Amino acid sequence: MIIRKAIMSDTESIYKLLSKYAKEGKLLARTYPSIYENLQSFVVAVLNDEVVGICSLAILDRNLAEVRSLAVSPDYVGKGIGKALVKQIMKETANLEITKLISLTYQIEFFSKLGFNVVDKNELPQKMWKDCINCPKLHSCDETAMLLNV
Ligand SMILES: CC(C)(COP(=O)(O)OP(=O)(O)OC[C@H]1O[C@@H](n2cnc3c(N)ncnc32)[C@H](O)[C@@H]1OP(=O)(O)O)[C@@H](O)C(=O)NCCC(=O)NCCS
Repeated sequence: MIIRKAIMSDTESIYKLLSKYAKEGKLLARTYPSIYENLQSFVVAVLNDEVVGICSLAILDRNLAEVRSLAVSPDYVGKGIGKALVKQIMKETANLEITKLISLTYQIEFFSKLGFNVVDKNELPQKMWKDCINCPKLHSCDETAMLLNV
């Protein structure tokens, strides 16, 4: 398995994985234009020429970034791929000289194992303004905010 930056021919796999889990309410879907626009922020896990996992990094402020669109193909969960993807995103965050990495998630145990700690969503004002404001769940957000000091 390799982890590499996403390229244009990965966009169908990215779209399909996000759409699948969005239908289950596990993450937000993305349109193709949104995937194209943010393609440089994605990393993919590839096994036998197949994209089996994806993750993106969104910069929210000078010292705040977010793990977004993390998904591992159902046939490949539980094999360390999600962990490898987030570790790559952690490396990229550090390379950008950003020390705070957040996740809004239902996967508390998964992110805890990677060193993230639960924080009060109200401690993330920039995040609220830049992203949540456009989210359909704005007034009924049930995700947990987790923070890692990279
Ligand atoms: C959440 C998800 C990305 C995890 O990916 P994965 O490849 O299965 O996770 P890994 O195999 O790398 O697991 C890493 C560790 O977290 C644990 N873990 C993974 N998912 C877990 C879960 N749902 N509950 C508890 N622990 C979990 C694993 O047991 C493993 O522990 P270990 O290091 O002690 O062995 C994957 O299940 C997924 O795509 N889910 C659907 C989409 C989603 O919920 N995305 C997250 C949006 S923030």
